[in-house]
Amino acid sequence: MTDDSKHPLKTGEKLLFIVAGLFILFASIAFAIMQYLMATSDTPIFDQSTHYDLSEKGHQGSLIFRESACTECHRAMRGGTNMGNNLDGIGNKRGLKWIEDFLKDPESVYGHVTMDHGPKPKQAFYVAEMSDHDRHLMAVFLSELISEQGSASSHIPPKGDSPFIDSMVNTWAPDEWKDKYKDVREKETDPVIDSMIDSNKEVITGDK
Ligand code: HEC
Repeated sequence: MTDDSKHPLKTGEKLLFIVAGLFILFASIAFAIMQYLMATSDTPIFDQSTHYDLSEKGHQGSLIFRESACTECHRAMRGGTNMGNNLDGIGNKRGLKWIEDFLKDPESVYGHVTMDHGPKPKQAFYVAEMSDHDRHLMAVFLSELISEQGSASSHIPPKGDSPFIDSMVNTWAPDEWKDKYKDVREKETDPVIDSMIDSNKEVITGDK
């Protein structure tokens, strides 16, 4: 019988451990340096393409949003989870009134059955039962989450020609779609969304 625990490591095994150890050490040091730079640098490391310029009401709404466990399912201002839709950039897509109506009566606004919002026993049933006051503030907050066209949280791809998007469209989109749908990149600005954003501003500043 031989005692395995007494076998010394072979040179190759030692080397492997040393390399793995060095790798982990350098990765930890690099991570620490990056975190330090991110915390102390004045210029943002990534392009800021989602804007969070909250009004006073929007700020109050953001607190209610956080307290109401919305971030258990949604992402907003980069925090939260991806169980529900990412709400960063929702202000470009939906108007304040739409958001408020949705939170109150989700299925009739969507026009079809919803998954988590709606009456009990759906998990987010409580949103429709919150006070009008709190729901309004949350809707103001959400309507102020604006992102630039083409950013990760925007529903509209970047302006200008993109060979990548062109090739994806050519490969995947059936020909009949080209007659049926308009390429969102060809719309200069969307008057519906522009007017929604303007009316958000009016409602938010109007009834303070
Ligand atoms: C249990 C998970 C869950 C919770 C909690 C939740 N949501 Fe949702 N939310 C969803 C899902 C899923 C959808 C997509 C609609 C559906 O199927 O219910 C959605 C849709 C939405 C939409 C519409 C987005 C769009 O553009 O279509 C808004 C606005 C919204 N939620 C806000 C909220 C707010 C505000 C709260 C907290 C008060 C909240 N949600 C809590 C899961 C959740």
